[in-house]
Amino acid sequence: MREIILTPNPKQLRFFESTAKYTAYGGARGGGKSWAMRTKLVLLALNYNGIQILLLRRTLGELRENHLFPLIKLLKGVAQFVSTEKEFRFPNGSRIKLGYCDSENDVLQFQGQAYEVIGLEEATHFTEKQFIALTESNRISGNMEAVFRPRMYFTCNPGGVGHDWVKRLFIDRNYRANEKPEDYFFVKSLVFDNHYLMRNNPEYVDTLMALPELRRKAMLYGDWNSFEGAFFPEFDYEKHPCEPFPLDPGWIKFRAVDYGLDMTCCLWLALTGDGGIIVYRELYESGLIISEAAKKILDATPKKEPIRYTTASPDLWNRRQDSGKSGFEIMNANGLKPLQKANNARITGWRVMREYLKGYTSSDCKPKLIIFRSCHNLLRCLPLLRFDEYTKEDAADTPHEVTHAPEALRYALMSREPMFPRKIAPFSGSIYSFDSPSSGDDSYEGFIKY
Ligand SMILES: Nc1ncnc2c1ncn2[C@@H]1O[C@H](COP(=O)(O)OP(=O)(O)O)[C@@H](O)[C@H]1O
Ligand SMILES: [Mg+2]
Repeated sequence: MREIILTPNPKQLRFFESTAKYTAYGGARGGGKSWAMRTKLVLLALNYNGIQILLLRRTLGELRENHLFPLIKLLKGVAQFVSTEKEFRFPNGSRIKLGYCDSENDVLQFQGQAYEVIGLEEATHFTEKQFIALTESNRISGNMEAVFRPRMYFTCNPGGVGHDWVKRLFIDRNYRANEKPEDYFFVKSLVFDNHYLMRNNPEYVDTLMALPELRRKAMLYGDWNSFEGAFFPEFDYEKHPCEPFPLDPGWIKFRAVDYGLDMTCCLWLALTGDGGIIVYRELYESGLIISEAAKKILDATPKKEPIRYTTASPDLWNRRQDSGKSGFEIMNANGLKPLQKANNARITGWRVMREYLKGYTSSDCKPKLIIFRSCHNLLRCLPLLRFDEYTKEDAADTPHEVTHAPEALRYALMSREPMFPRKIAPFSGSIYSFDSPSSGDDSYEGFIKY
């Protein structure tokens, strides 16, 4: 017998007491969200024999730090941890399974399974598609003795790729025909509600106070309107997209490829001669091996369209273990040449992209970067890109699916930069990443100018 004394604060208590179908907690930093989520799920496991619970975070690293280690400590002698399954098994038949959804499709692994309770930590890091897929698994498992209405619990901060759907359901309460308002309950908690943190680490509030204004409003006061989290606030649907038009035959054209088996993105670009760049075609396809990707790219390029060069992901220059050949060699052998190893200096690259998004051409004041409306994926992904939580001025690598097209564009724009780049001012907007340990940039290894 082990006695655990829990002292939830009043906001956490309201979260515990909610039996709504969907209950969300938080809205700011440090409000005791993770503690509340963990504790609530353990209480459910102890109180309902045989209940099946799923706790999800976006990445494995976050899951480990935030929940796995604290739960192992909390449940020592109470539940058995089965590491191969990443689950805690309680003597009463209850189970808490921990999972993560790094990529959009990772949620599919939970389809066909049934959990009476699903906890979504940092719900704004999940897309609406993932949330909807998970609601299908939120049903009676058949293992329980008691009658139980399935529920989902969420914790959240403003910002992130899921900002809009979380805000719509829990903050704006703006419902669609198939959604019942009484199903959604939100407990707003701020760092000031977390007495534990206020007592033990009052400097944390100073850290939040020191954030730039927009981010402070969001993270300290839970203001959902001040911080949308977009990495490129400069991207403008009114300014950058354009209906396709015939290109001037004299314009120099080139391609940029972000290759991956999960997704290959190739962009075709034209230089307008006055500093402007037009993205006029895209290829966006998953599951292509390197030779197929090369072939598809060549097939999508009309014979009479001269392409000066193709800049491509630097990792294509690594030798592959299976064939002993590099992706570069395979692409070359399939006729995709000349290939240029892309400059992967991420932060400089994003800064260059910002300059293009903000800028206008010298001669006729057109946007410096124009994207044909036919490039659906680039236009879809650019506004979805988010700030990385930890590295100042870098874009988040999750959800991974939205990164491919922006990365290809970054490679493209960097291929036009001088070898020793001009100094570009850091991002001057007030949406900065949180706790940034480094502002350093990456190397310029292997950068060749054509
Ligand atoms: N009711 C509580 N009792 C004890 N510790 C708590 C309680 N609520 C929060 N904490 C502690 O406060 C700190 C911050 O809480 P956490 O849940 O990580 O916040 P958030 O996820 O909102 O950033 C953690 O160390 C957590 O264990
Ligand atoms: Mg947390």
